[in-house]
Amino acid sequence: MAPSNLPAALLLLLLLASSGPLRPTLSGAAPLEPVEVSLVAGAQEKGAVCLDGTPPGYHLQRGSGDGSGSWLVHLEGGGWCSTLKDCSGRRMSVLGSSKFMKPLQFAGHGIFDSDEIYNPDFYNWNKVYVRYCDGASFAGDAEGQAQDGTTVYFRGLRIYEAVIGELMEKGLANATQVLFTGCSAGGLATILHCDDFSARFPQQVSVKCFADAGFFLDVKDISGERSFWSFYNRVVQLQTSVAQGLPCQQGPNRELIKSIRTPMFILNSAYDSWQIQNVLLPTSSSPEKTWLSCKDNIRNCNSTQIKVLDEIRNTMINDLKVINDKADWGMFIDSCFTHCQTLFRVSWSSPTSPRLGNKNIAKVVGDWYFGRSQGVKEIDCEYPCNPTCNSLPPP
Ligand SMILES: *[C@@H]1O[C@H](CO)[C@@H](O)[C@H](O)[C@H]1NC(C)=O
Ligand SMILES: *[C@@H]1O[C@H](CO)[C@@H](O)[C@H](O)[C@H]1NC(C)=O
Repeated sequence: MAPSNLPAALLLLLLLASSGPLRPTLSGAAPLEPVEVSLVAGAQEKGAVCLDGTPPGYHLQRGSGDGSGSWLVHLEGGGWCSTLKDCSGRRMSVLGSSKFMKPLQFAGHGIFDSDEIYNPDFYNWNKVYVRYCDGASFAGDAEGQAQDGTTVYFRGLRIYEAVIGELMEKGLANATQVLFTGCSAGGLATILHCDDFSARFPQQVSVKCFADAGFFLDVKDISGERSFWSFYNRVVQLQTSVAQGLPCQQGPNRELIKSIRTPMFILNSAYDSWQIQNVLLPTSSSPEKTWLSCKDNIRNCNSTQIKVLDEIRNTMINDLKVINDKADWGMFIDSCFTHCQTLFRVSWSSPTSPRLGNKNIAKVVGDWYFGRSQGVKEIDCEYPCNPTCNSLPPP
C-alpha cells in the first residue's frame, strides 16, 4: 500500500490475518471445525501464483440437503499494493503467500454460517472462501523484480481462472444456483469478474453477483487531491502488462456497473469507514487533530465534518442511480460507520443487526436472490438517523 494507505493496510491485516479474515465466533451454537485450506493443484505450471510464487488457496465447505446443488463463491479482500516494495512486503503475510494460510472458522460468520437461524437462505449451500494473495483484486497479470532480485508475481487474473477451474471440477459446474460474492478489494473483484463468471454457466442456472463494500468512489480527499484514484492507477500500472492488454484497467465503479448484464446486489455503507479513512482522509491529506478523531470514529465528528461525509453519501447515491433502471438488481446502502457487513453475524443477521425497512441484510439479500420481494433497493437516511447502527463495534 502507499504510505497514505498504510494504517488501513495494517488494520486490514490485523482484521484479516490475525484470526483469519473472520473474527472468532461468539456463539456456542454449531461448534464446527475450522475449514481447511485447499491449494490449487497444478497452479504453478499455469503461473497462477501468489505474490511469492506459492499456489493460491481456498476453503471449501460442502453443502447439504436441498443446498447441495447451490454454491456461494466469495473472493476475500485486503486492500491493494501499488509499489514493488509494498507488494514484495506482502509476500511475508497471508495476503501474499499461501505459506501463511490457516484453517478458517466459518461458524458464526454471517453468510458463511451453517446455522439456519442466523443464515436462513444460504446456511446449507456449498461455500467457498477464496484467499486473496495477489494484491490487485484478482485482476493483474504481470511480474516484477524485488530489490533483492527475486521475482514478485502479479497473477490475480490467473488465480481467478485456476480457482474457478478447480471448483468447476469439484462440482461447481453442476450447480443449479450460484452466488458470486466478495468484500472490499474482493467486492471490487466481484464487480470486475461478474459477467465473465456468470458466462461460464448454462442459461438455466441462476447466477447472481453480490459486492460487499466493493463500491469505491472517485472523490477527492480533504486536501483536494484525487489521491485514491492515483493510488489505484499505480496498482493498475504495476500489475498489468501492456502485452496483456491491461486486463485490470478500469474507470470509476459508477461507469463499470453500467455495463454489467448479470443481476447484481450492491451492499455498502454510504459512510463506509474504509473509504472515509483512506479515500477522504488519507495520511497524505494531513488531516488535523479533529479530523483524526472523526476518522477514528464517526461519533467524534462535529457538525461541519458530518456535512462533508454527507457529500460522500450523496456521491454514492448518485453513482448508484443507474441501478434503479435495472429491475433484477438490488442494493442495501445503510448509514452505519462500517466496512464489510456479510462476514459477521452482528451485521449480517442478528436481532440487533442494522435494518432498513425493518429488514436486516440477510433478509434483503435473500429476498433479492430468490425474487421474493420487490423491496430490495434500500437506501438509509442520513447519519445518525438509524438507531440500528448502534450495535456495530467501531471499525
Ligand atoms: C456433473 O453431473 C454429471 C451428470 O450427473 C456427472 O457425470 C459429473 O461427474 C458431474 N460433474 C461434477 C464436476 O460433479
Ligand atoms: C469542526 O472541525 C473542523 C475541522 O477540524 C473545524 O474547522 C471546524 O471549525 C469545526 N466545526 C465546529 C462546528 O466545531
